[in-house]
Amino acid sequence: MGVKKVILILAFLGFLYLDGLPLCTASVVHNYTYILKETKFTRLCSTKSMLTVNGQFPGPVLRVQNGDTVIVTVQNNGKYGVTIHWHGVKQPRNPWSDGPENITQCPIKPGKKFTYEVVFSDEEGTLWWHAHSDWSRATVHGAIVISPKNGTSYPFPKPYAEEVIVLAEWFKGDVKELIDVATANGSDPQISDAYTLNGQPGYPNNCSTTTTYRLPVVQGKTYLLRLIHAGMNEEMFFAIAHHKLTVVARDASYLKPINTSYVLITPGQTMDILVTANQSPSHYYIAARPFFDSNAPYDNSTTTAVLQYVGHYTPPSSPSFPTQLPNITDVSAVDNFTTRLRALASKDHPISVPTGVDERMFITVSVNQLPCDKTVCGGPNNTMLAASLNNISFLTPKIDILQAYYRNLSNVYESNFPNRPPSPFNFTGDSNDVFLLPSTGTKAKIIEYGKRVEIVFQGTSIENPENHPMHLHGFSFYLLGTGYGNFNTTTSPKTYNLIDPPEVNTFGVPKSGWATIRFVANNPGVWFMHCHLERHASWGMNTVIIVKNGTTSATSIRPPPANLPTCS
Ligand code: C2O
Ligand code: CU
Repeated sequence: MGVKKVILILAFLGFLYLDGLPLCTASVVHNYTYILKETKFTRLCSTKSMLTVNGQFPGPVLRVQNGDTVIVTVQNNGKYGVTIHWHGVKQPRNPWSDGPENITQCPIKPGKKFTYEVVFSDEEGTLWWHAHSDWSRATVHGAIVISPKNGTSYPFPKPYAEEVIVLAEWFKGDVKELIDVATANGSDPQISDAYTLNGQPGYPNNCSTTTTYRLPVVQGKTYLLRLIHAGMNEEMFFAIAHHKLTVVARDASYLKPINTSYVLITPGQTMDILVTANQSPSHYYIAARPFFDSNAPYDNSTTTAVLQYVGHYTPPSSPSFPTQLPNITDVSAVDNFTTRLRALASKDHPISVPTGVDERMFITVSVNQLPCDKTVCGGPNNTMLAASLNNISFLTPKIDILQAYYRNLSNVYESNFPNRPPSPFNFTGDSNDVFLLPSTGTKAKIIEYGKRVEIVFQGTSIENPENHPMHLHGFSFYLLGTGYGNFNTTTSPKTYNLIDPPEVNTFGVPKSGWATIRFVANNPGVWFMHCHLERHASWGMNTVIIVKNGTTSATSIRPPPANLPTCS
């Protein structure tokens, strides 16, 4: 079982290349096969069947070098239609292989297959892949490791070894059933029963102590941890007892090294972290717990793994716990970490922040309610819970938007996603129920090729203020700044970092606050934009950005692949 890395072809030079041997620096095509299938797993003293790739949880690791291409053939032997998304891979001109269900493709039906062409460009570090259909990503996800090209190196001393660490959430029940129930009546979905670290809940969760994930380390050596938050609904703090962390990359883009005792990571984000085993030989807990600051229900448990020094020594009976791990509601711990992110911005890893703006958007990010005509209604006062961007709660179409756009099909989506909410209001004030009920629709924003785009995301206090980790497909972008309260067009831009803002694909809009991003619309295609809290995405906190073709074929969407899944 496992991933079959079948062939490694040197596309241009036509001679044989052995993986890992530094023969030359041309980009390489890798082949993987993903078999989607139900697999039995036992956690928290109970067994369930769940959808996996190749029977693995977390799923297989895709390993590439900067600039490579990966061909992944996905065979669906499961019970329902699924798609796979390559989170953070820009896929230049190739939205066909991006994956979000009914946005760029229809699902791969049971018994069918689809071949994705995953095109890497300048990403380097850690990304991940995940299912992008309903909540199937809870069990269908894995790491993408992008190493420097042969002949180039990390912008930090080469680590002794590296390890992927995937944070996720474990639901005892069937994830598809629980989200189908929640969306049918607009209720808060059931919370998870545990968090997992590399597939294991770990101490102190039921029946988890002996199966806790262990990371062996040699004293004195430095390790590169590739941390991925594949969880569904909560941001998380992460720390290792008695050990310092140095964060060197976020979302496959290098940072000025940040020395810290803990990190905060949102669903969707990835982080490359150096840790040196410089303590006395023993065993130490690696731990993660949620950051949560809202009235919504959430899983408040802790997951652990063990950093285990190799060698002969007598450890204390139980490992020490990271006392520096912040408490669940510690907002200042979040801000103290996230405001330290700066792009590395070196000669080898330059950045180019657009200095001007051609297209300006201001998008309110809200949790709302919708009228409910069911016998059981999940929201307050006989409503259904909903969510919106600029007061529009997104409806997923039946035919994918990419196909509708490419083939000029009408009645699939509208091209009028607005540049601002219907009218200004006190976004973060006390009573904003004027926009409690959003409109609904499938509206996309059309942007001309090459425009410099700036988007201010404004959190609101409607229904329930929360943090929102927003994600845009097809791009990475500069996070210029964040702040609390209502965005002020005069004073807020003065706080922007235009020198070395981090280049990311997922960023937190602070509760009752704002965040600003900037990028050049140089990737033609249909790109999903959504909150990476699955609860909010299911309620409609989504939209689509369509970047039009440029004037040449090199700046236009590629032709569609032959084997696209059919809709219906
Ligand atoms: Cu992690 Cu729409 O993606
Ligand atoms: Cu959200």
